[in-house]
Amino acid sequence: MSADIGLIGLAVMGENLVLNMESRGFTCAVYNRTTSKVDEFMSGRGKGKKFVGCHSMEDLVKNLKTPRRVMLMVKAGEVVDHFINLLVPLLSKGDIIIDGGNSLYTDTDRRVKELTAKDLYFIGTGVSGGEEGALTGPSIMPGGNPKAWEAVKPILQSIAAKVDGGQPCCDWVGDGGAGHYVKMVHNGIEYGDMQLISEAYFILKHYIGMSNQEIQSTFIEWNKGDLDSYLIEISSDIFGKKDDAGAYVVDTILDSAGQKGTGKWTAINALDLGIPVTLIGEAVFARCLSSLKDQRVAASKILPGPVAADAHKTFKGDKAQFVEYVRQALFASKLVSYAQGFTMMHAAAKEYNWKLQYGNIALLWRGGCIIRSTFLGRIKDAFERNPTLDNLLTDQWFTEKIGAAEQGWRQVTAASILTGIPSPAFTTALSYYDGYRCATLPANLIQAQRDYFGAHTYEKVNGKRGEFFHTNWTGRGGNTHSSSYNA
Ligand code: 2AM
Repeated sequence: MSADIGLIGLAVMGENLVLNMESRGFTCAVYNRTTSKVDEFMSGRGKGKKFVGCHSMEDLVKNLKTPRRVMLMVKAGEVVDHFINLLVPLLSKGDIIIDGGNSLYTDTDRRVKELTAKDLYFIGTGVSGGEEGALTGPSIMPGGNPKAWEAVKPILQSIAAKVDGGQPCCDWVGDGGAGHYVKMVHNGIEYGDMQLISEAYFILKHYIGMSNQEIQSTFIEWNKGDLDSYLIEISSDIFGKKDDAGAYVVDTILDSAGQKGTGKWTAINALDLGIPVTLIGEAVFARCLSSLKDQRVAASKILPGPVAADAHKTFKGDKAQFVEYVRQALFASKLVSYAQGFTMMHAAAKEYNWKLQYGNIALLWRGGCIIRSTFLGRIKDAFERNPTLDNLLTDQWFTEKIGAAEQGWRQVTAASILTGIPSPAFTTALSYYDGYRCATLPANLIQAQRDYFGAHTYEKVNGKRGEFFHTNWTGRGGNTHSSSYNA
């Protein structure tokens, strides 16, 4: 039996993805380093289906139709290079390798170039949706060598999630590492969304004093409006789950968050590009801070200030009104986070010469993935109105929505600051918002300081942009300024 595609790596994502492919009518050859997993799969979930179980890479390649399509669902990093090296001598001109793992986009960029030089095509694709998404329809973000797209498009689009009456959440993203880049930003946004939801939960719990049950009902309501999303939906489920002893599971979980690195990559890249993606950065740092559990417990006994868990003692006022303020704070911060994420892709597209279609990227995330939400449809609309929009916040729909939420957002951040409830993502989002809409910032003083101690020069308020001046602040330093050192 000649298979349509070969898949290497039968871990959770690989296994579910290949079952998804088979269910759409594709014959799949499967291989795994630990070959007992192939046997387990063939006699387990793969039994009686159109799979070819392979015990060697030679066997896998031999069983494929040409041009051969081999998908890697293995651990990111060296393991991907290892399998590419094993595949290269077995493949022929025009064959295609697809990496569906969470690879760093710069690795993907390199692999596309290396394989193009060997007349092979390489695609690096983001796949998001976890175990269930992989099985029933993930969001798929392919990039790499565009010449390979037509040959893999039918398979990838048929297994992807569908939205709006059949639109697949899978389309070509761009050259080189563009697909994995977009997946990286997706994961960063996911970090941001999770942090924002956690902050809303903490304020509802500690400031308003709501029970898990009340918070669950609130989230169910929120999920009917602008916040309608997968993460709000699963959070409402989480608040209702009890263990065998009758305790709420969420209350039994240690408050120390883990991470695998894609949020960190997003934050690092934002710094490299010089683009303020403050919310994702803060979300990554919030996880880091949470993991310092022992230090936090010790510091809680030493460092003065109001105690978050006692905040409800100070709450006066209308509960329902404040719950609405929290919803507004969450939504406004989310608007900022997505606006920041898209400014970052904009800058990356310039830097790496990608032609990203921002509206389409929003559509890729509309279904299947962890950050799926109805709100992404609004982003698609905004980029349809203006494909070169600099910042989503200046789109009319965003401006109106953030305007309507702004007062509640300030109430919530002010209350959290006064009562000692940490809300780093809510507050950083508001600081960004106020900074972005502030025509005059205090950076004049920073420039003065830089010029004072390092003769770094400055531009003038009424001068031409690009014309630089230096002041001899102390009368001692002379008139040499630092740009003349570079000349
Ligand atoms: P395994 O089942 O043999 O461990 C996710 O971990 C996938 O990557 C699995 O299919 C796993 O194979 C594979 N993988 C992880 N490290 C690997 C390595 N060093 N060499 C080959 N495959 C590896």
